[in-house]
Amino acid sequence: MRSFLKDEKHLVRMAAIFLVGLLLFLIVRAFFIPKGFYEYGHFRTGALADNAARPMGFAGREACESCHPDIVDERKGSRHAAIACEACHGALAKHADDPVGLKPTRPDAKKICLVCHRQDVAKPKTFKQVNPQEHMGSEPCNACHKPHHPEMA
Ligand code: HEC
Ligand code: HEC
Ligand code: HEC
Ligand code: HEC
Repeated sequence: MRSFLKDEKHLVRMAAIFLVGLLLFLIVRAFFIPKGFYEYGHFRTGALADNAARPMGFAGREACESCHPDIVDERKGSRHAAIACEACHGALAKHADDPVGLKPTRPDAKKICLVCHRQDVAKPKTFKQVNPQEHMGSEPCNACHKPHHPEMA
């Protein structure tokens, strides 16, 4: 036993270095981990309040419909009736809060329609798709289709 520990100074130094290392790690860790981390899970508890405090971008279809009943009538019976307004018009909560102060620009029918309808083998066959070159040449989609009621028949 004695012979095994005859050079114990080395062990003591090594243990001391490990201890100092551990202490440093704990100090740095305490410094960098934000308050509330891991209180409920692998996230910072305060992040919930931070996100809830961010302003909302979307107003929701009910808000649009309450002020634009003419568009609701236009969309009746159309296969577009179920699409949320802001899917085409973009997030417009600021406009809903201040309709005249922030007048939205109209979506560009040359671009917005093809976001959903451009022909693509990855889309289900049952979804109506067009090849823009063959379908309409250089005319914008709304030269023939009404965006809020696009059916031709
Ligand atoms: C509180 C009533 C109100 C709400 C809610 C509202 N709007 Fe409006 N919207 C208006 C008014 C009023 C105008 C006309 C503003 C002007 O002409 O200066 C307008 C104008 C517009 C225009 C421009 C029309 C044009 O002639 O170019 C678009 C597009 C539009 N709204 C879409 C929407 C969408 C989409 C929503 C839902 C996110 C929405 N609005 C919510 C009142 C509202
Ligand atoms: C499929 C895409 C799409 C959806 C969904 C859609 N719109 Fe539009 N909307 C357009 C496009 C494109 C225009 C621009 C038409 C133009 O330039 O003549 C437009 C124009 C408008 C205008 C300007 C005035 C007019 O009559 O053209 C208003 C107001 C409007 N939309 C409100 C709404 C509201 C409210 C909803 C939901 C109830 C809605 N839109 C849903 C694509 C859409
Ligand atoms: C957010 C996606 C989206 C956008 C943007 C969009 N559409 Fe549609 N469109 C749909 C969906 C979903 C249907 C219903 C498809 C179905 O029932 O099979 C549809 C149906 C149609 C139909 C009916 C086809 C038929 O005869 O049954 C036409 C035409 C059409 N869209 C044209 C347009 C035009 C023109 C625009 C641009 C103003 C446009 N769409 C923008 C999603 C979109
Ligand atoms: C020159 C007029 C014209 C223009 C411009 C036009 N379309 Fe059409 N579109 C039609 C006609 C007519 C039909 C119905 C006959 C048919 O099925 O081809 C139709 C049908 C459709 C259909 C249903 C296709 C199906 O399989 O039933 C979709 C989706 C459509 N168009 C989307 C668009 C989009 C998106 C644009 C713009 C990129 C556009 N159209 C531009 C005339 C037009």
